[in-house]
Amino acid sequence: MFEIKAKDMRGRVGLLKTKHGDIKTPNLMPVIHPRKQTINVKDYGADIVITNAYLIYKDEDLSKKALDIGLHELINFDGPIMTDSGSFQLSVYGDVDITNKEVIEFQEAIGTDIGTSLDIPTAPYVDYEKAEEDLKITLERAKEAIGFVRDNNYEMKLNSVVQGSTFPDLREYCATELTKLDADLYPIGAVVPLMEMYHYRDLVDAVMHSVKCLPDSKARHLMGAGHPMIFALCVAMGCDLFDSAAYILYAEGDRFLTTRGTIKLENLTEMPCSCEVCCKYTPDDLRAMEKEKRVKLIAEHNLHVSFAELRLIRQAISEGSLMELVEERCRAHPMLLDALRHLGEYSDDLEKFDPRSKKSAFFYTGPESLRRAEVTRHLNKLNEMDKKKNLIVLPAYRKPYSKYLSNSFKEFFVYAKDESKGEDEPCIIENHETDFMVLDIPFCLIPLELDELYPLSQSDAPKIHDKIAVDFTRDFLVDFAENYGNVLIDPKVLDELELDYIEPYSNSEDIKFEKDDIKKLKAIADYQFGEGAGEALFTGEIKIEKSKKTGKIRHIYDKNQNIVNMRASDSFLILSKLGAKRLASLDGMRNKVMIDNSVESFARDGKSVFAKFIKDCDENIRSNDEVLIVNEECELLAFGKALLNHKEMLDFKTGQAIKTRKGFK
Ligand code: GUN
Ligand code: ZN
Repeated sequence: MFEIKAKDMRGRVGLLKTKHGDIKTPNLMPVIHPRKQTINVKDYGADIVITNAYLIYKDEDLSKKALDIGLHELINFDGPIMTDSGSFQLSVYGDVDITNKEVIEFQEAIGTDIGTSLDIPTAPYVDYEKAEEDLKITLERAKEAIGFVRDNNYEMKLNSVVQGSTFPDLREYCATELTKLDADLYPIGAVVPLMEMYHYRDLVDAVMHSVKCLPDSKARHLMGAGHPMIFALCVAMGCDLFDSAAYILYAEGDRFLTTRGTIKLENLTEMPCSCEVCCKYTPDDLRAMEKEKRVKLIAEHNLHVSFAELRLIRQAISEGSLMELVEERCRAHPMLLDALRHLGEYSDDLEKFDPRSKKSAFFYTGPESLRRAEVTRHLNKLNEMDKKKNLIVLPAYRKPYSKYLSNSFKEFFVYAKDESKGEDEPCIIENHETDFMVLDIPFCLIPLELDELYPLSQSDAPKIHDKIAVDFTRDFLVDFAENYGNVLIDPKVLDELELDYIEPYSNSEDIKFEKDDIKKLKAIADYQFGEGAGEALFTGEIKIEKSKKTGKIRHIYDKNQNIVNMRASDSFLILSKLGAKRLASLDGMRNKVMIDNSVESFARDGKSVFAKFIKDCDENIRSNDEVLIVNEECELLAFGKALLNHKEMLDFKTGQAIKTRKGFK
């Protein structure tokens, strides 16, 4: 029912398939009031809507009509319709007169596309016992609903709502149990009070702990979230659908939604956007207007802004700039900034879902950028690489580093003390024993051989102040870390790198730097495919072909057999047949995806691999990685580009997982 088309952080551009048509996600489902609706939301970009089955059920007239002509005719919408079950009314009024079974039956009978069981939205900050008790009922009802829908071969798809209040362990428990039920979609419930209180930090916890335990192959819906200000943040955490009455409720209160917050009509001196309403009327026109007409116009603006934001988010995911957008949006309110900073705590989890390479460059927008997945990934790599040799560190205030090196680097670099020669007797390090590294604002230390690799080179940050360059001491580095990258150089990393040994040095006539292409290629291979990949790939009579225009490495051969090519845009190595074979010789499942033997011939023919045939997969695989496709005996069949990460590959039962480059016939 759901397929991923593009990824960024935990966000996905997806396709949700329903019997009333396919919709792109992330998307917003405007809430349709079954009786009061005056706006035709389809005219303003709605592809899917949500309405309340309980409200229809409770109204004798509407109920009859719905059973008679069907839900789609009733609310005059021919696209997919989701229905809610009355749980929200339950949470507001404490009670509803409908049972779980009744509401499920009713939703199927009126022809809803996606129905919901009668979950219990537990308020935030209740006692643990209360949350646990409610959760038990929610889970029982979810189970009952699924059983009922499956036993009776219902056509409608089913939501199972994650509850658990503000207790991360209960959110995880609930999501884990619901996953076992194999529902069709997974809403995350009871977050409306958090949003009303601006408790976005707690929203981050509720969403992140739910999403962590939900399947990646199903769409997730953040229930009752409808303010465009928070869409980008929630999409980055893995939410695919939003629903809300906000567009109309805010309009009824004369309030305009914008991505920077809400503006009251009484405070409006300029119209807030360029939608049809904002172009046609002035704030005074609206203030003078009769209420009913005005509400309709403001609601139209509100929908327009919401859909425009979702288009922007989908575009950002496709180009890989979602976090730049999130960081921008989270500056709309201090409590959102607080939430963004808190999201940094989840960087290790987010990293697993973030594509290895993106179309757009990494733009630093502030210290929060230092907790992005790309930075965490790089620091983890540095730790793996275990660089404990002598370091010469260069400040990266001018890029590309390589050019910078050949010009004026001499004045600025530092050198490492050689312990063997005694504490007080620093020595000049021989060129060939030294690891040059670049001190970079988002990425901390960059081994020079990797300086062209995504995102280390495809990143931009404000220039480091010149003073920094001449003032290298350990204190400086710590200071630098605290000011620019407090989360970047944590004590662990400092220890690993033995930065203690780095001292300022400015008299460096003896040090010369020469770039060694093979050393560089091996370093890139190790960084990309793991330790040992460089040695495995680059043996024999290595020939390197460079671009005549840019002088950059392009093709690498053993005699005249192509091993790998270097992609110009991000300097990642793209395997050829020989490279794939050599890489496959590395131990275990490294860089490998194992597929069912029944589809071996398709892979050998160079056909793309569908997720449902994947049996096993290296857990280090991220989307956009170059991967090896093997059969159940671990024989190499083909190689290609991963479209999903390891967890998604194992979870999805539909859609492509690997775009195969070539197969071995
Ligand atoms: N609408 C807003 N929050 C909720 C929730 O937690 N459950 C259901 N069913 N609907 C909601
Ligand atoms: Zn407008």
